[in-house]
Amino acid sequence: MNTKNEILLGQFIENRDELHQPDPKAISAILRAVERASERVHSVISRAGLADVLGAAGSENIQGEQVQKLDLFANDQFIESLESCNHIAAILSEENDEIISLNESGEYLFATDPLDGSSNIDVNISVGTIFSVFKRNQKGQPKKEEFHRHGYEQVVAGYVLYGTSTVLIYTCGNGVHAFTLEPSSGKFILTNEAIKTPQKGNIFSINEGNYKTLEKGIQNYIGYCKKLNDKGKRTHTARFMGSLVADFHRNLLKGGIFIYPATADAPKGRLRLLYECNPIAMIAEQAGGLATQGKERLLNIKAKEIHERTPFFTGSKVMMNKALSYLDE
Ligand code: F6P
Ligand code: MN
Repeated sequence: MNTKNEILLGQFIENRDELHQPDPKAISAILRAVERASERVHSVISRAGLADVLGAAGSENIQGEQVQKLDLFANDQFIESLESCNHIAAILSEENDEIISLNESGEYLFATDPLDGSSNIDVNISVGTIFSVFKRNQKGQPKKEEFHRHGYEQVVAGYVLYGTSTVLIYTCGNGVHAFTLEPSSGKFILTNEAIKTPQKGNIFSINEGNYKTLEKGIQNYIGYCKKLNDKGKRTHTARFMGSLVADFHRNLLKGGIFIYPATADAPKGRLRLLYECNPIAMIAEQAGGLATQGKERLLNIKAKEIHERTPFFTGSKVMMNKALSYLDE
């Protein structure tokens, strides 16, 4: 406990929240490494227009997307910070074609999108870091096949949202907790314990630019969201920022649904299973919401490739069940 009775991330994990975890000290060390890296990312992002960090780095990642300078900066911060915590055997990052080996004796694997929504940085819109942790099943030199796991095997999942304030949200399978960065001290302080998402909501988040390429059931669900009530007023509201973390976080707190289905441009879905959808799905379920690939529970999918993509539906139970009922048509 610090002098103001504020609860810091490390204290929370070790003393209050995760006593059932087999190794709270390792989990705490990993989350504190995430905390250190995201604090550095925060401080650079918050001055982005003043420093020479905006714009494209001039290369493409394995997904064929333009890499931004800040993608690389964020990636380096997470690699460096996790290497120094000694518990991570390897990192799978959106920014690297292959996994990066860190400490062979590490008992955990870390998957991350170090800067989600990074094209939004140049226009001052919120971005995030998404991360997922698995316990290793074997020892020795880490191999990429070790990441071919089911989502339900994650031991920690979370994200950091660099928004109007910077918040770190995580779950170890025992509820969802939020910590807000106090920029002057660089500490993340508990601000929301045991978050529950509303069962109902009225926000639908989907890139409607893809509308004509979507399967009929999803088009019909969008039509349902646009229906008026008997007083001629709207029943739903549309929000899509193009930053998964920001779109999900808003819906988590307010109630809503986020859909990134298969499209003509991305026939297997746009988002990545291991470091975008899995961690968000675990948070969603832990908060009382749902996450699927369509009809199938997302966390039941076993990854076959490290950069695999998937269609993704997540949000409040009532909205999800309604949307999924349209997929049966
Ligand atoms: O990481 C992929 C991502 O940037 C997500 O944050 C976001 O939901 C999605 O892409 C937006 O993609 P698009 O603008 O192509 O719909
Ligand atoms: Mn992303």
